[in-house]
Amino acid sequence: MGLLEDIPAIEKAALDELKAVDTPDALEAWRIRYLGSKGAVKATMQRLKEVPKEQKPAAGKAANQLKNALQQAYDSRSSELGAARKPRPARRIEDVTLPGKRPRLGHVHVITQTTEEICEIFGRMGFTVASGPEVEDERHNFDCLNIPPAHPARDPWENFYIDEKTMLRSQTSTVQIRVMENQPPPVRIIAPGRVYRPDTVDATHSFMFHQVEGLYVDTGVSMSDLKTCLDQFCKALLGHDVATRFRPSFFPFTEPSAEVDMLFHYDDGSSEWIELGGCGMVDPNVLDAVGYDSEKYTGYAFGLGIERMAMRKYDIPDIRLLFENDIRFLEQF
Ligand code: PHE
Repeated sequence: MGLLEDIPAIEKAALDELKAVDTPDALEAWRIRYLGSKGAVKATMQRLKEVPKEQKPAAGKAANQLKNALQQAYDSRSSELGAARKPRPARRIEDVTLPGKRPRLGHVHVITQTTEEICEIFGRMGFTVASGPEVEDERHNFDCLNIPPAHPARDPWENFYIDEKTMLRSQTSTVQIRVMENQPPPVRIIAPGRVYRPDTVDATHSFMFHQVEGLYVDTGVSMSDLKTCLDQFCKALLGHDVATRFRPSFFPFTEPSAEVDMLFHYDDGSSEWIELGGCGMVDPNVLDAVGYDSEKYTGYAFGLGIERMAMRKYDIPDIRLLFENDIRFLEQF
């Protein structure tokens, strides 16, 4: 039989067999049999050589049609089987009567809350808020604060140095210098922020904590202004039964200098003197270092520990609780 007569038979056999194919494996076997490189379609193409010349155009056309018909049949069967294999995604049915999920809202950290309250109290006394970088140079952390090169406060064991001249600031007093460098007197600022010291961590010490610096420079500023300011501040923050006292002390950048303590009354009736920080009258050397006329201007400065105040205010027994980020603790404030 000639090729032209064979082609319809091949096509019929192929399509009949394809109808019976019902698994991907069977389909693949069918494909190899008919469309593969040694399959029936290929063989048909090869037989075109034997066809007499006058029949060639018709035979070639028929062979091509066979090829296209089988390829099409294969494609559609393949997509049917493929679709059957993949399970359709089950339609999700939303129960619109279920209660909604409330988003968990965060809130400001207790130290930030305390800082905001401190800023608010000093704001009422005429202080504006200033800030400075936590990565500082020796000039602002020491030199301009009248701390000489050999001073033990510069010791590498007392500071986090980044290189010989750069460090994480160990005190917010750096901001005193930064503010005075940038504006003429009078100055009345507070500067809250983080400070860093390589202290061993325990219930009352941390390698990072917060201070609030205060600086007031003008004509005629006196030590009694300082004392009134800090006393009023403590009462506003912690209650009117809080008393304050100054103890003589020393800081290179203030003269005279004092430690300020507050007498804090606990709920059980006991009370305790708690050190809040350092303060004093700005040393004339500091005013000279920033180009202020130290004959004309005087000023006071203070630096208080914010954790200490927050721990009294909220009755927090251990400083580490503040920085462990335990939500059960933080949620209480
Ligand atoms: N900077 C000092 C400290 O960290 C505190 C202080 C600030 C003292 C301002 C006097 C004046 O200990």
